[in-house]
Amino acid sequence: KVADLKGLKQGRLRLAVITTAKYFIPRLLGPFCQRYPGIDISLQVTNHEYILGRLSENLDDLYIMSQLPENQETCYKPVQENPLVVIARVDHPLAQEKNIPLKRLAQETFIMREPGSGTRKAVQKLFDYHQISPKVRLDLGSNEAIKQAIAGGLGISVLSRHTLVMEGVNSELVVLDVEHFPIERYWYAVYPRSKQLSIVAGTFLDYLLTSEPLICQK
Ligand code: PGA
Repeated sequence: KVADLKGLKQGRLRLAVITTAKYFIPRLLGPFCQRYPGIDISLQVTNHEYILGRLSENLDDLYIMSQLPENQETCYKPVQENPLVVIARVDHPLAQEKNIPLKRLAQETFIMREPGSGTRKAVQKLFDYHQISPKVRLDLGSNEAIKQAIAGGLGISVLSRHTLVMEGVNSELVVLDVEHFPIERYWYAVYPRSKQLSIVAGTFLDYLLTSEPLICQK
């Protein structure tokens, strides 16, 4: 098929991804755009709740998210692991400890992602399940700002491990070894089941993946 020939695919790919995927998707886009010079891309980076809204309004071709929508049927594929970890400043008293009980975190001051964040939802679910109420001092709408706040001594937080990818050996941040962590999650590539994927979006989906099967909800 002519449209499948390398270099002949043309059009715009509209992606919308949760905040943590910004550590991963833009890097993949480099080689993808080199392979398919006729494809232009628009990339929205926002939180879980906004992604759900965009998905229900059918504003984009493909979504990357960690929690599938509950009231909309989708097709989805797991793309990569997205574990959530407890992050503290390197000089934190718990930094050297092993297997810290979850309950111990109730004594710490927390920085949380904003309401509407999937990260926040996942953390809240774990804490609720174990009947722990963290002392939240600060809500922040940015993973990077939270890292700065941790480094500034405002408290500890739970973030995707991917937020640490650019931290070198001299990082001011450490991952605490806390029971029930990491919270195991995945990034999924998702689109509404009723949608016919464009050739461009299908090309990107194939490019993203790997051997995982596409699952379409009945
Ligand atoms: P969030 O989603 O940006 O809404 O927190 C990130 C994630 O769920 O990994």
